[in-house]
Amino acid sequence: MFVFGDSLVDNGNNNKLFSIAKANYFPYGIDFYQGPSGRFSNGKTAVDMWGEMLGLPYLPTFVQSESNVSTVLRGVNYASAAGGVLDETGLLVGGRFSLSQQVMNFKSNMNDLRNEMGPNNLTQYLAKSIALIVLGSNDYLNNYLQPKYYNSSHNYTPQDYADHLLNHYSRQILALHSVGLRKFFLAGLGPLGCAPYYLAQNRTPPGQCVSSVNEIVGLFNVGLKSLVDQLNGNHTGAIFLYGNAYGAIGDMINNPSTYGFQVTNEGCCGIGRNKGKGICFPFSRPCANRDQYIFWDAFHPTQAVNAIFAQRTFSGPTSYCYPINIQQMALK
Ligand SMILES: *[C@@H]1O[C@H](CO)[C@@H](O)[C@H](O)[C@H]1NC(C)=O
Ligand SMILES: *[C@@H]1O[C@H](CO)[C@@H](O)[C@H](O)[C@H]1NC(C)=O
Ligand SMILES: *[C@@H]1O[C@H](CO)[C@@H](O)[C@H](O)[C@H]1NC(C)=O
Ligand SMILES: *[C@@H]1O[C@H](CO)[C@@H](O)[C@H](O)[C@H]1NC(C)=O
Repeated sequence: MFVFGDSLVDNGNNNKLFSIAKANYFPYGIDFYQGPSGRFSNGKTAVDMWGEMLGLPYLPTFVQSESNVSTVLRGVNYASAAGGVLDETGLLVGGRFSLSQQVMNFKSNMNDLRNEMGPNNLTQYLAKSIALIVLGSNDYLNNYLQPKYYNSSHNYTPQDYADHLLNHYSRQILALHSVGLRKFFLAGLGPLGCAPYYLAQNRTPPGQCVSSVNEIVGLFNVGLKSLVDQLNGNHTGAIFLYGNAYGAIGDMINNPSTYGFQVTNEGCCGIGRNKGKGICFPFSRPCANRDQYIFWDAFHPTQAVNAIFAQRTFSGPTSYCYPINIQQMALK
């Protein structure tokens, strides 16, 4: 299992970078068996859950795997908080691995592995492996939706920007394919306009989300799903899946009681209106009933939400994972 992504699935790659996007301090990890690890969650991320369902151990970070090729055999997590599809995304936050850097890090690991096991074995190994990609949120949060600091919204309409992102995205996916990966899961974006950060910024009334933000990220999702169709059509012998994070998390926000959630519009850990200002600060006191919250902090979902999303995409219907689910892909 090879993971490419941002803070939704980072498991500690940013810990040693010069960055403000870190989560290796309490109360992050308050419900994780290792405590704070760099995961931006109270507990597990969706990647941890997918790994469990596939019967794989917790993955090493790229930073850990770099010095020890034997750790690479069960997979590596390359994800980096603040990273995006575009290299310039997240620049103001500090050090991070963008998608293209993550792909280079993967290639570097695979060069080591090829020396170790030989090219034919590597080809077979990669064809059985699964690539999970969770990216794009920062290209909005830490780029397009920050017009004071990034010029993308002056240069691109929302539709043109989504196309621009997907163009870069598909080139990196093809680079991974050319190294030998054949099974891809591409997560769409969640309803960012429902994150406590945007609710606070827009003083959104209870029960509502910031629809302008949701409409903008929705364009990326529509394009990503259509990219998945194109990739499946163009590359026989490979499988590409689209994970509907928007639909899955949107349904939890709209029908919280169905899932046992009580609080949809406030972070469990944070300060200010909606607990939506900035991050969850070191040693701040989070809410006690974390499984009843959709959001852990101003941006990131709780472990409870990650678990439902992971389950839905692993074994759920095509409305959550298209055109087949992760389990079906793994068995192919
Ligand atoms: C490399 O990783 C393996 C598996 O995790 C571990 O058993 C071994 O001790 C590590 N070797 C070094 C030199 O760190
Ligand atoms: C490739 O895999 C085969 C079968 O698992 C193994 O016998 C062989 O030693 C491997 N080759 C290398 C170079 O490791
Ligand atoms: C916009 O930003 C890009 C990337 O940061 C930069 O290359 C370009 O020069 C900028 N354009 C303007 C008009 O500021
Ligand atoms: C798929 O192939 C078509 C026809 O050759 C091409 O126009 C399109 O750009 C390709 N799409 C991708 C994502 O490779």
